[in-house]
Amino acid sequence: MSEFAVKVENLTKTYDSLIALNDVSFEVKAGDFFGIIGPNGAGKTTLLKILYSFVTPSSGIVNVSGFDLNSDYKKIKNLLGVVPQEDNLDEDLSVFENLMVYSMYFGIPRKESLRRAEELLGFFDLSEKKRAKVISLSGGLRRRLLIARALVNGPGIIILDEPTMGLDPEYRHNIWNKLKVLNKSGVTVLMSTHYMDEAERLFKNIIMLNHGKIVVKGDISDVLGDRYKRGINETRSLEEIFLDMVKK
Ligand SMILES: Nc1ncnc2c1ncn2[C@@H]1O[C@H](COP(=O)(O)OP(=O)(O)O)[C@@H](O)[C@H]1O
Ligand SMILES: [Mg+2]
Repeated sequence: MSEFAVKVENLTKTYDSLIALNDVSFEVKAGDFFGIIGPNGAGKTTLLKILYSFVTPSSGIVNVSGFDLNSDYKKIKNLLGVVPQEDNLDEDLSVFENLMVYSMYFGIPRKESLRRAEELLGFFDLSEKKRAKVISLSGGLRRRLLIARALVNGPGIIILDEPTMGLDPEYRHNIWNKLKVLNKSGVTVLMSTHYMDEAERLFKNIIMLNHGKIVVKGDISDVLGDRYKRGINETRSLEEIFLDMVKK
């Protein structure tokens, strides 16, 4: 297996005159819990959509687990689990059916799909809701199902675009705990957020984006510690670093 789960070099995306991503380069080590931080419009979704081949980059190189995105898209698809920013669950189907339909999409044999769906429902505390229609679920339960669905193919890398946005503290904590367990089991987690408390709590390494450019990159304790070492203010949080960055 490649040492890097993801390697991005000089990635740029333009929409007409707007530069959504501007010469972005970074690496995500296998097994990392990697965070993409930035305000609304920073380019987080664009970056993640490029990684899961939903958006075509204007230029640059993207490599996932040693495979080039241009030539090996099909191989990469099987290695990734994707939690998009917009909930695209099938509302007319049950919780269980949503998982099964997704398994079919990956061509997973039925017996294995059934086993995997039960296991994921258990892990995400959704077993009681197995037969419930998605339309009847609360926002927090839908989000848990969205993450469960991303795991049906047993991916080594999971990409989550603001998975806790708008959730109450209990649901947020629940999702954090599940993601930590997954990461401990060896899954590389690549996730965006604009919640700084969440970032401090979860991420090992980060990039901060602003107007499509990387403005901070590195180990999160170095990012926080560097601020401390420079004596700016020992109580500075990531949130304050973030606010400084956005002002520039
Ligand atoms: N399909 C699109 N067409 C035109 N502009 C887009 C499109 N998608 C995103 N953008 C623009 O690209 C920038 C980055 O957006 P996005 O990646 O969604 O940021 P974030 O996820 O950090 O909020 C924004 O200015 C947004 O308006
Ligand atoms: Mg976004």
